Parts: sequence; structure tokens; C-alpha cells
Amino acid sequence: MNSRKIEAWTLVEEFVQDPGLRRHILSVAAAMRYYAVQLEQDAGYWETVGLLHDFDWEIHPDLDRHPIDGAIILRERGWDEETIRIVLSHYTEGTGVEREKPIDFALLACDEITGLVIATALVRPSKDVRDVKIKSIRKKWKDRRFAGGVDRDHVEEVTADFSRNCFSGELTLWDHIGNVLEAMQGEAESLGLDGRLAH
Ligand SMILES: [Fe+2]
Ligand SMILES: [Fe+2]
Repeated sequence: MNSRKIEAWTLVEEFVQDPGLRRHILSVAAAMRYYAVQLEQDAGYWETVGLLHDFDWEIHPDLDRHPIDGAIILRERGWDEETIRIVLSHYTEGTGVEREKPIDFALLACDEITGLVIATALVRPSKDVRDVKIKSIRKKWKDRRFAGGVDRDHVEEVTADFSRNCFSGELTLWDHIGNVLEAMQGEAESLGLDGRLAH
């Protein structure tokens, strides 16, 4: 692990005790790594940004504070302004920081959708993300009461933005969800979605 990634994870360990939030953070980090490889970017750095993006959600669990107040902590801890800018760009409405770079578009596109993948894995008897098929996610996508916090329209919108900015518009919603699923399946153990919760 590179040192920034270790520092990011140390911060998560310090500020995030909730296993569900840790799982979300690790899921986004896995998806970010996946896309960095696809887009020939710095995978360790993209993963680091994924780890950092919600580190303050447990201490600032509302959008008046998150991620703006989290940015203050990142600055105090010596994180660079570019990294802070990327983190702030995942909530433009509150921060005024627009998405500009591929990493910004990837972060928001990977953020919410991980929630639907996790919820789909957790309703399987095996509780193993490696058993989740894209077909089951499609079904859950249509049932808007399932994982109702995952705003489908918003996911479509931010995926389209990511696609336009990084894939010449050719990344479809379901390609994207398939990629996020694959990325998370590769990290089943660290996500705790490897069947251990079935017992
Ligand atoms: Fe967030
Ligand atoms: Fe998030």
C-alpha cells in the first residue's frame, strides 16, 4: 500500500466506527481503483480518494456539514488542496465545487450505486457479493422501495455525466453497474461480503 492510502485508511479507522459506512467507503474505493485502471490513471490515488470521500460522514451526518467540515480536518491533517477539491466535488450543491476532472466524475458515479449492490448482496441467503448477478440488481433497481435511499434518477444522471466525460458517452448505466459489481466482487473479503454474515 502506498503511504497516502495508508494515511487515508488510518483516518477512516479514526473517524468511522460504523461497519456499514466502512463498507460503503471500501466499496467506493474498490470501484475507483477499477476505473483508474480502465482509464490508465493512478489506481492507488483514485482508491485513496474513494477512502477519503466520506470519512467525516459519521461525525457530520448531514449535508450542512459533510463534506465541508470534513475538508477542514483534511486540511489540518496536511492533505493537499487538490485532494480536498475532489472530495468537495462529490457534493456540488453544498460546496459549490463543480466536477471537472475524470476522477471527480468517477467518484460521484461510483458513490451511490454501491449502496444498491451492497443491499442486493445482503438480501441473498449467502450474503456473498460474488453470488450477485446483474439481473438481480436490475430487479432491485426497478423496485424503488428497495434500498430507497439510492436515488435512481440521480445515479442515471451522474453515470451519464461520467460516461460523457470519460467514455465518449459509451459507458451505459448497466455497463457501469456491472463494472462496480465486478470491482466489489474482487474485494468481497475486505467488504465483509464473502458469506461471513450468513452464519
Ligand atoms: Fe458523501
Ligand atoms: Fe459516499
